[in-house]
This record gives sequence, C-alpha cells and structure tokens, in this order.
Amino acid sequence: MMTEPAKLYQASVIAPVNIAVVKYWGKRDSVLNLPCNSSISVTLSQDDLRTHTTASCSPAYDTKDNLVLNSAQEDITGARTQACLRELRRLRAILEDTNPSLPKLSTLPLRIVSENNFPTAAGLASSASGFAALVSAIAYLYELPSSLTDLSRIARQGSGSACRSLFGGYVAWYKGMDVDGSDSIAVNIKPASHWPTMRALILVVSAAKKNVSSTTGMQTTVATSQLFKYRADEVVPHVMTEMTLAIRDKDFHNFARLTMSESNNFHATCLDTSPPIFYLNDTSRAAIRVVEDINQKAGRLVAAYTFDAGPNAVIYYQESDENLVAGTLKSFLANVEGWEGKGEKIQEKSCDGLSKDAIEI
Ligand code: ADP
Ligand code: DP6
Ligand code: CO
Repeated sequence: MMTEPAKLYQASVIAPVNIAVVKYWGKRDSVLNLPCNSSISVTLSQDDLRTHTTASCSPAYDTKDNLVLNSAQEDITGARTQACLRELRRLRAILEDTNPSLPKLSTLPLRIVSENNFPTAAGLASSASGFAALVSAIAYLYELPSSLTDLSRIARQGSGSACRSLFGGYVAWYKGMDVDGSDSIAVNIKPASHWPTMRALILVVSAAKKNVSSTTGMQTTVATSQLFKYRADEVVPHVMTEMTLAIRDKDFHNFARLTMSESNNFHATCLDTSPPIFYLNDTSRAAIRVVEDINQKAGRLVAAYTFDAGPNAVIYYQESDENLVAGTLKSFLANVEGWEGKGEKIQEKSCDGLSKDAIEI
C-alpha cells in the first residue's frame, strides 16, 4: 500500500521598507524593544524595495526551525527572532485548542526563505521589511485572526522599525508609557493616497554591510551620549508634533525642513557616542551638499535628505520637481569619487507601501 506524502503548508508575503523622518534610536527596554522616543516613517513602494518571505511547515521537515536569507543560512537563535516565533506559535496553539479539527501546525518545524531585493544591513531598513515579512508570512501560514496592529506588535520584538512596515503610507510609532509595551504601538497617520505627489529617491552609496548594527549602535549611544537624552526628551517630542502637522497639511516645506534637521540631529548623536559611530561617508556628505545646493538655487525647499544607520541617502521630493531633483543629482553624482555605478543606482520611488492586497498566499 502507498503511504501518502507528508503535507506541506506554505504562505508568502511581500513587505515594504519604511524610512523614518523622525528617527527611532535608543531602547528603554531591549528585551521588548521599547523605544526611548516616538518616531514617524514613510513607507516606500514595495514595487521597488521589498522583502519577499515564504514560510512553510511540514511533518516531513527535520526538527529545527530554519531561515535562509538571501540564499544563506541565517542564525535565528537570537532572543528577538525567538520571541516572534514563540508568540506566533502560541497564537496558533490557541486556535488549535479551540478548534481540534485544525492541523497541529504549531508543533511543526518552520522553514522560512527570505529575499531582500536591496542591500541588507546597509541602512536601508532591511530589518524593518525583513521582520514585518517574517511575522506576517507565519501569521498567514497559521491563519491567525490577528489584526495588523497585533502583527506590528510582534514584529516590533524582532526589530523596532519593523512595527512601522505593516500599514503602508505615513506611520507613527508612539513610544508609550507601559512597562509591558502594550501602548507602544504603530499607527497609520495617513495613507499614501493622502499625498500622492510625494516621491522618494534612493542613492545607494554603498551596499556593504554596516560595521555597527542599529541594535549595537543605539545601545552604545544610550550608554554614552550626552546629547542623546536631550534629543529623546526635548527635540523629538516637538518634531513629532510638527511633523504630524506637516504630513496632515501636505506642507512640503516643513516636511523637508524637519526631515533634514532630524537626520542631522540623529547623526550628531551618533557622533556624540563613545566610541563615535560614523554612518555617513564622504559620498553621503556630498549628497547632502547637492540637496542643500538645489534648495538654495530654487529659493525654496524642493528636496529633503535623510539617512538611517548607514551611508545610503533617501531623498524626498514632490513629483512636480522630479526633473530638478533627479536630474541635478544624477549629473552631480556621476562626477563624485566613490559613487558606485556613476549614478546608475538612483532608483525612484513613489510612496505607496504595503496593504493587505500585497499578501500572496
Ligand atoms: P538595516 O539598516 O538594514 O535595517 P539592521 O542592522 O537594523 O540593518 O538589521 C540588519 C539585520 O536584520 C540583518 O543582519 C538580519 O539579521 C535582519 N534581517 C534583514 N533582512 C531580513 C529578512 N528579510 N528576514 C529576516 N531578518 C532580516
Ligand atoms: C536609524 O529598528 O533597525 O533606522 O530595533 O535594534 O532592530 P532594532 O533597530 P532598528 O533601528 C532603526 C534605526 C533607524 C531609525 C528608524 O528606522 O526609525
Ligand atoms: Co534596521
């Protein structure tokens, strides 16, 4: 008699990158990943920068969970990945307990395969799209009835910035007050359609893995920087209010002004860390100068740079200024020493972000 092959259960999702315009930097609780300050991000189009993750489980798999990231084995024994897997399994087990006809997926080993179509660990928020994709792929595999807010809360435990990659559009992550993190949640403040003329352009200055991971960098900043407390307690709360209004009013002048000063304040805090953290390089600084120059020549703010924990620039501008911004940057950067690809690596993005429709099962 033929035995039936073991069943395979599988689900795939695509998650977008989000780039903060008010930066999260510093944890008040590094186990739960609770931030010292609130933050706001813009979700980039998943047509361009994205993580694609497939999660599967089967009785035929060997006994260990396993993650292959960009074709290489990734260590998933870290506490934060384990916290995500544990929580997702717990929720699946509750479903199985209440509905005994469901297959017992919570007890099966998981295989996760993930691809980022952009540089990983280079300051383009791969941990954000990466953990958002990992958590939502397993949630869909397990058919959890969880809301996006529930998934965001789990993804936050994998990487803080990941909690902002579930909703699309403009997303605020409120730091919250509770010790258990129950009020530290990400909220969609406006959908991408609210500001359809917004564009982002990514300058891939270097695809190399950064020397100091975001997790380590912010931990050292909290422990050593004098400026950090002032930034978290005084600067960011004001910027949060003003940035929320700038987005609400589609006020590009204030959006740009705040985005650039926030990026500079964040990198100043990195420099104030001991030992100092240098995420920007000469090419990053050249890009800053070009944007400042474009704005000065135009007599208004037409472009805004921001840099996460890495040398790669994200430049926000409005569709009507496309030729001015993209054209000037392309021709300038073609002559910058150290610019890989002589300007070919400029990618243009509209900011539409993730929606539930993006999920393929
Ligand atoms: P980034 O600036 O790219 O977010 P981080 O230092 O914050 O850099 O995080 C990079 C780490 O995030 C990677 O080393 C990896 O552990 C994790 N990561 C990145 N992409 C994925 C992914 N697709 N799936 C799971 N984990 C990922
Ligand atoms: C500069 O979310 O990558 O990009 O929570 O330790 O994984 P962990 O850090 P991560 O930090 C992101 C820092 C940032 C700013 C931001 O995205 O808000
Ligand atoms: Co990250």
